[in-house]
Amino acid sequence: MIWSSDLTLGIHHIDRQHERICRFADLLQLASRDRTVARLALDFMFDHMAEHFVDEEDLMNTSNYPARLEHQRLHIQGFDRFVQLRAQFLAGKVSSEQIAESFHGWVEDHILREDKKLAIFIQGSSHV
Ligand SMILES: [Fe+2]
Ligand SMILES: [Fe+2]
Repeated sequence: MIWSSDLTLGIHHIDRQHERICRFADLLQLASRDRTVARLALDFMFDHMAEHFVDEEDLMNTSNYPARLEHQRLHIQGFDRFVQLRAQFLAGKVSSEQIAESFHGWVEDHILREDKKLAIFIQGSSHV
């Protein structure tokens, strides 16, 4: 399972979104034998990622987070990577399990490095 309390940042709305995205990635891994379920899990995961990035970027803008452009660039980069993997899945070139594994590394790294920095900034400047 991807989600664990180690990934909690202390911003409830953001933590809930991270947890939901991770749960869909778990489902994606479990559904590897059923392409229809895997496809649905992938679609939900992408919708939630898109919504979450917008919310997190709004938070960065309203709090005047100094590293917001770099953080936003990493969101775009991560999303593009998964859009490509999704296309490869639809073409039958990668399994949903492979996407889930790749996502696992990316999301853990992103939350613990980038989102954590944002959370510390927001909590330190009481913008929540
Ligand atoms: Fe982020
Ligand atoms: Fe995030």
